[in-house]
Amino acid sequence: MKGIVLAGGTGSRLFPLTKVTNKHLLPVGRVPMIFHPIAKLIESGIEEILVVTGTEHMGDVVALLGSGREIGCKLTYKVQDEAGGIAQALSLAENFCHGDPCCVILGDNIFEDSLAEEVKAYAEQGDGARILLKEVSDPHRFGVAQIDGDRVISIEEKPKKPKSHLAVSGIYFFDFDVFDIIRTLRPSARGELEISDVNNEYIRLGKLSHGSLGGWWTDAGTFESLTQAQDLVGEEQGRLF
Ligand code: G1P
Repeated sequence: MKGIVLAGGTGSRLFPLTKVTNKHLLPVGRVPMIFHPIAKLIESGIEEILVVTGTEHMGDVVALLGSGREIGCKLTYKVQDEAGGIAQALSLAENFCHGDPCCVILGDNIFEDSLAEEVKAYAEQGDGARILLKEVSDPHRFGVAQIDGDRVISIEEKPKKPKSHLAVSGIYFFDFDVFDIIRTLRPSARGELEISDVNNEYIRLGKLSHGSLGGWWTDAGTFESLTQAQDLVGEEQGRLF
């Protein structure tokens, strides 16, 4: 299985922290934010990892991470020319995946759980997609899953009236069909190719499973959530690598 860390976007919600740098290079604990998702992939046994980021700060991202040798992985890089959404960023990974399934992590998702069990669960599933859910108090900020019995029956992106408190975390497993699915997408109202539309297509095909995150989870894309990520990671856990 390949690993993909999506680290593009403008970081507008963190301006001016992101005026001269990429959101994913801001500190969380003792390391830049992007180390956290990479460490989770490595820990679960995924060592071939693609990092996707924008043109502006690709140089700094490469200067930070290099080939990955120092942190125990093999890194590849792809440039997202303009912010066109998470699914558009993921589409750039097609050649890198080369027929293989992938675990995708949004670069601002910081969480406690190991992914090892989820990697195993998805490998047993064999194909389709798998998402990880987390109960939150502010679901309107996220993709929100509607559940019937033990199945996810729909995902709404940032709904005004969420149908549950289950946020879709930015940790996804996809088979190689994901690239065909992305080709069928149309931009959403905010002009982006949405990852929730990808997951809804897997629901339609009857091929979306889900797990849940037992430990803490947060994004780190706003001032409040970045502060929360700092608190949750703490000093000791922030000593990655
Ligand atoms: C993205 C996804 C959303 C998901 C969230 C998790 O939102 O679109 O479905 O719940 O990541 O962090 P963003 O924070 O990029 O707006």
